[in-house]
Amino acid sequence: MKLWGGRFTKETNQLVHNFNASLSFDRKFYRQDIQGSIAHVTMLAKQQILTDEERDEIIKGLNSILADIDNGTLDLDNSEHEDIHSFVEAHLIERIGNTGKKLHTGRSRNDQVALDMKLYTRDELHEVDELLRDLLETLLKIMEENTETYMPGFTHLQKAQPITLAHHMGAYFEMFYRDRQRISDILKRMNTSPIGSGALAGTTYPLDREYTASLLSFDRATLNSMDSVADRDYLIEMLSAFSTIMMHLSRFCEEFIIWNSNEYRFIELDDAYSTGSSIMPQKKNPDIAELVRGKTGRVYGALISLLTTMKGLPLAYNKDMQEDKEFTFDAIDTTKGCIKLFTGMLATTHFNKDVMLESAKNGFTNATDVADYLVNHGVPFRDAHGIVGQLVLMCIEKDISLDNLSLEEYKAVCPAFEEDIYEAISIRTCVEKRVTIGAPGKEAMDKVIAIYKSYLN
Ligand code: ARG
Repeated sequence: MKLWGGRFTKETNQLVHNFNASLSFDRKFYRQDIQGSIAHVTMLAKQQILTDEERDEIIKGLNSILADIDNGTLDLDNSEHEDIHSFVEAHLIERIGNTGKKLHTGRSRNDQVALDMKLYTRDELHEVDELLRDLLETLLKIMEENTETYMPGFTHLQKAQPITLAHHMGAYFEMFYRDRQRISDILKRMNTSPIGSGALAGTTYPLDREYTASLLSFDRATLNSMDSVADRDYLIEMLSAFSTIMMHLSRFCEEFIIWNSNEYRFIELDDAYSTGSSIMPQKKNPDIAELVRGKTGRVYGALISLLTTMKGLPLAYNKDMQEDKEFTFDAIDTTKGCIKLFTGMLATTHFNKDVMLESAKNGFTNATDVADYLVNHGVPFRDAHGIVGQLVLMCIEKDISLDNLSLEEYKAVCPAFEEDIYEAISIRTCVEKRVTIGAPGKEAMDKVIAIYKSYLN
């Protein structure tokens, strides 16, 4: 059934129909389409635009359609309907007859699709938030268990200063916590109901838009009917937030791929989360991490695609906006899938703590602490920096670490060194002396972990 056949004298060309149709993808929100319609007719009856009997008949019909789509009796695959809105309305009329023709009173597909997309997005944002919460819980558990697992921290992918695994994981906790805050901001801003805006200019029926809004758990009705049908900002915000989540996941994956390499061996991925090679029997590959890193581009693509679709559109609705769906749905599914997979991979990863500690010891990660030792013994920092530089050079020539220099060798370069230098530059001391908030020392880390716990309550 077409919703608009009346003023046409010819059948639509089949290619035009196919090109124009959106059922193959907007079927994704059939549930929200029906949910919106039920709220709409409930409001129409309250305003005496429909009778209570008509309302009940329509709602019963809509619920039976919902149940049949859910259980597969009603086939969305082989349907010739233009979109999910036409599909539901046609089936309603088929099931309940003329009363079904009253469903579309006081609305347009423009405000209807705006509503459906918002309802769908809102549900999905809540799901993404839950998945991020699981990820944060996994991170927090690793943090609690590893406040004294020492490892090198890197800058320029060169060993820099010793940190702990808890500290490293904490950096990602911060990122994904910000991602959750972004989602919560978007949910607050987008939570206004467009339904009742009509095609663009409202309607002449005495609708109670606030009532429909409250039935659908919106904070209020939107205030401008043209903006209501033309606004896709919330999708752009969501795709931007998802792009940031994917960027964070991708950085994490990159580190896992490096840590999993034969050269690093900081981690061992669980067999259930890695794959083999068809030719090289010895291989155990970090494919999941690589795929998550790879899929980041798809989500960025969805964001750029929608920004580009929207940039030239005059008010109000334009058919271009139908292009808001496929990439957005793909980005939602991709982001959800990647968070879920990554969390599972992280939770099952084995950390080679001995290898991490050894690596922290061999790479002059305590060089800054040697300089700090001299400063505490009255040497100006710039001079201390130069002295330690010389010591490092000596060590490189001898292929040893700073801990292995004799006291004589230390004193030969600077007499300020004493026996306590060894304790002062042990990896443990280097970390545990860093106790300002945000630093890796256990004293500071425990406070931060307590704060993170309160975030998850
Ligand atoms: N499938 C359309 C979309 O997704 C629904 C709105 C149709 N409105 C219209 N005026 N053609 O945008």
